[in-house]
Amino acid sequence: MTLSVQLVSGATTDNGADALIIGVFAGTVGDSDALLALEDALGGGLLSHLKASEFDGKLEQQVDVPTFGRVKSRRLLVVGLGPKADADAARIRSVLAGAVRAAQSSTTKSLALSLPSPLPLRAVGEAIVLGAYRFSRYFTGDRKPKAELAKVSVLVSGKVTGEQKKQLDIGVAVGHAVGIARDAVNEPPNELYPETLAQIAHVIGKDHGFKVKVLDKKGILAAGMLLHYAVGQGSTNEPRFIHLSYVPKKKKKKVVFVGKGLTFDSGGLCIKPAAGMGEMKSDMAGAAAVLGLMAAVGITKPDIELHVLVGAAENMPDGSAYRPADVFGSLDGKTVEIVNTDAEGRLVLADALAYAVKLKPDVIVDAATLTGAALVALGKTCSAFYATDDKLASLLEASAKEAGESFWRMPLLDELSEQLKSDIADLKHTGDRWGGSITAALFLREFVGKVPWVHCDIAGPVLAERARGMYPKGGTGHAVLTFLEFVERLANS
Ligand code: BES
Ligand code: MN
Ligand code: ZN
Repeated sequence: MTLSVQLVSGATTDNGADALIIGVFAGTVGDSDALLALEDALGGGLLSHLKASEFDGKLEQQVDVPTFGRVKSRRLLVVGLGPKADADAARIRSVLAGAVRAAQSSTTKSLALSLPSPLPLRAVGEAIVLGAYRFSRYFTGDRKPKAELAKVSVLVSGKVTGEQKKQLDIGVAVGHAVGIARDAVNEPPNELYPETLAQIAHVIGKDHGFKVKVLDKKGILAAGMLLHYAVGQGSTNEPRFIHLSYVPKKKKKKVVFVGKGLTFDSGGLCIKPAAGMGEMKSDMAGAAAVLGLMAAVGITKPDIELHVLVGAAENMPDGSAYRPADVFGSLDGKTVEIVNTDAEGRLVLADALAYAVKLKPDVIVDAATLTGAALVALGKTCSAFYATDDKLASLLEASAKEAGESFWRMPLLDELSEQLKSDIADLKHTGDRWGGSITAALFLREFVGKVPWVHCDIAGPVLAERARGMYPKGGTGHAVLTFLEFVERLANS
């Protein structure tokens, strides 16, 4: 965490940052104090250049202007913020993160942002960190970034208030929490396996004073989490079950978040095709999201008792791997017939959900890269979610909107349940091809008892092929901000 983000009161033209981002609302080029001051300082030419570039502040428009030494900053990046009337936190976060990403070059060490006020400073802080994110720890020599962005100044007119500073600082810290989730997804699976995922949980616990409990392979068996154990039994990287808890003095509700933590999913004996198998290093993105949430909650400290559970395992083919036709018991007690060893996520989650129920929470939310079918249904940018309670569904929808993340509610179609009937056990764990995301959700529902529950199939948006808005290429940290907003709304309802 070497990035320092500060509020600075002062004129745009005096700032000596390597690059200066100037945010402009649609149709306000002529009234932007920052642009007018720069026009003056540059000795003219800026406004006519913007006009010639057809810049008028439309959303995500960007014009790069070199200053040739006429002001202290070498480079201006003029950015369209879209219409002022409906500028919400989600839009500001997305457009500013994109601008910071664009402003970052291999030589950028400092950056300043000049924005029309008032803007939601927490979202600005989030945007700066989200836009500055890079995953470069495995580069050496020429591939290693020459400069790290070390300092970002947010320019404000007038005196900086304590409340402004607090909001910006919270945003910066939340941005770093999302970075924890992105890092975990980007880490290669030879480095990130269940044991090292548990180490990340320990670090988060230590940083924020959370209780951390980790069960190893033996502990998982002893606890009766037989489905989780079965999924992990084919790998030399042994499984872990992780439980983090945050118990504040004032608690309006008790909430459990459960994350699928498959640090690598080869498919097991029902092995996946080679093409694209490497993407399955991201099969722990649900775990990453709930761990990122926990780190963020350590900053925002809502009046909610929060438990985060992660079922971590590696799904590998081996002499000791579980097989199709095996039958296992589960923590809940139900027996399950294995059909396809590549449907491992729901098995690990089933035990974690049963564990969650024992905590007697008001709400359970799970996040999992659960099915390819969710991707087929909604594409790569939107998560599928299911809810047993309409109020919770509305809350998740509103939270996702505020966070600027895409979630779409799907139906728990009871008529598909018969696909999960087994001839020799209580349940089969997969159905046929059609409605694959729904049958996975129906299987999970068997393990949540009567607790109001939301299931998020985040298989698509957690790993991006290209940067877009607040998301970089690679691990996106998707769902952390939505879950954080969800928890904050529960605390304030
Ligand atoms: N981790 C995968 C789901 C997945 C697929 C996530 C593509 C991200 C991108 C999951 O464990 C899986 O393999 N699901 C199977 C289930 C099937 C065997 C019933 C699938 O979706 O094909
Ligand atoms: Mn799988
Ligand atoms: Zn999987």
